[in-house]
Amino acid sequence: MPLNNRSVIKGTYSPPGDKSISHRILILTGQAIGKSKIFNLLDGEDVINTLKAMRLLGAKIIKKNNTYEVFGVPPGGLLQPKKVIDFGNSGTGIRLISGLISSNNINVKLIGDNSLNNRPMKRVTKHLSRIGAKINLRKLTFPPIKIIGTGNALPLTFDILIPSAQIKSAIMLSALNTNGTVKIKEFKTTRDHTENMLKSMKYNIKVKESSMHRFIEMKNNKDLKTINYSVPGDPSSAAFLISAACLKLGSRLIVRNMLFNKTRVGFIKTLKKMGGNIKLISKRKIHNELIADLIIEQKKNLNSTVLEPVDIPLQVDEIPILSIVASFANGLTIFKGLKELTVKESDRLLLIYENLIKIGVKAEIKNYDLYIYGSCDLKKGSGYIKHNDDHRILMSFYISNIICKKNNVIKGKSCVKTSYPRFFKDISKFIN
Ligand code: S3P
Repeated sequence: MPLNNRSVIKGTYSPPGDKSISHRILILTGQAIGKSKIFNLLDGEDVINTLKAMRLLGAKIIKKNNTYEVFGVPPGGLLQPKKVIDFGNSGTGIRLISGLISSNNINVKLIGDNSLNNRPMKRVTKHLSRIGAKINLRKLTFPPIKIIGTGNALPLTFDILIPSAQIKSAIMLSALNTNGTVKIKEFKTTRDHTENMLKSMKYNIKVKESSMHRFIEMKNNKDLKTINYSVPGDPSSAAFLISAACLKLGSRLIVRNMLFNKTRVGFIKTLKKMGGNIKLISKRKIHNELIADLIIEQKKNLNSTVLEPVDIPLQVDEIPILSIVASFANGLTIFKGLKELTVKESDRLLLIYENLIKIGVKAEIKNYDLYIYGSCDLKKGSGYIKHNDDHRILMSFYISNIICKKNNVIKGKSCVKTSYPRFFKDISKFIN
């Protein structure tokens, strides 16, 4: 149904369970002996693939109504899977579980869909080879990943030069079955859910932060305690309706139970800087994660902004929707240092740029920096959107329809199922 001419975003909204946390809670409860319970797990395809992978590796996972019960195997106790493991579209799933497998005495082949089979894996496997795992990649870079894990992983020190939580988490998961102390140094802060969850499961982990680096130290004690965990709402999914509410004057949206971890809500800071009227109603900490309720009441048009490269990891998945916001805000917005966007589910930098041009927005790419010449009066549209089955590109340009005068054409919408299966339902419920 066309969205143009629909006016405001209204209602009380609970976003679906967080994707990053859903992957991690399945993996970590799958390494804890005894019964853990997971509530509000995201039912997106990416997460279900991780669930199936954990089952193939020996965890028992039972769905009872909306709760998942997980009975894990201990670190080092993964079973030899009977077949190849298929991660579909999920970079997080394949990279994190590569780390887990690398320090177990098993031999596994990991595959993905067409998009995943063209994403770089060496950034992870080069670290995992150092601990003693034998790893093979297609063209030395891409999946399928063939891993012969080691039961005797070396405890090493790792420098993470590419800002990626997936690289960091893969190493941390390999450390679960590594005797000795594993040290990790991050040069830019990335999402820290693996760290927070390990602390909540009483693992021996220390995290220190200086102005330049983050240091993680894991001392193997092989003992993860079971946990009952309710997955908070996903800010990366909520970003679509929150951004829409900031763009449409007169909107009033209440967001309940949203993850408010500072490594994930960079986009809220950006929207506020642009003039978004977003307020925190309440916040609480559960299992080392900050969770909040918010209200967005927009009365004024937005202005442009500039993001520096250090800001990007804190909103890496929200750049597509922020590009839409920037297009309908007054002035020149610059997002600097977007190289990582070129290796996501699609080359997001290129697709954002091409689609912005199609819907009538002036934009430029200069050396991985994206320039958007925005105007709140701009209303063109009628572009034929190319999304290459990238869920976040599709959802972002779908939102552009609330402003554009002529509806943009978007074909093949099923890819939203990877991260946000009820996206279109939520759109019809809250945009009217
Ligand atoms: C994720 C990390 C990010 C992000 C992805 C989820 C995670 O990827 O883009 O959607 O859950 O660790 P990178 O680690 O490649 O930055």
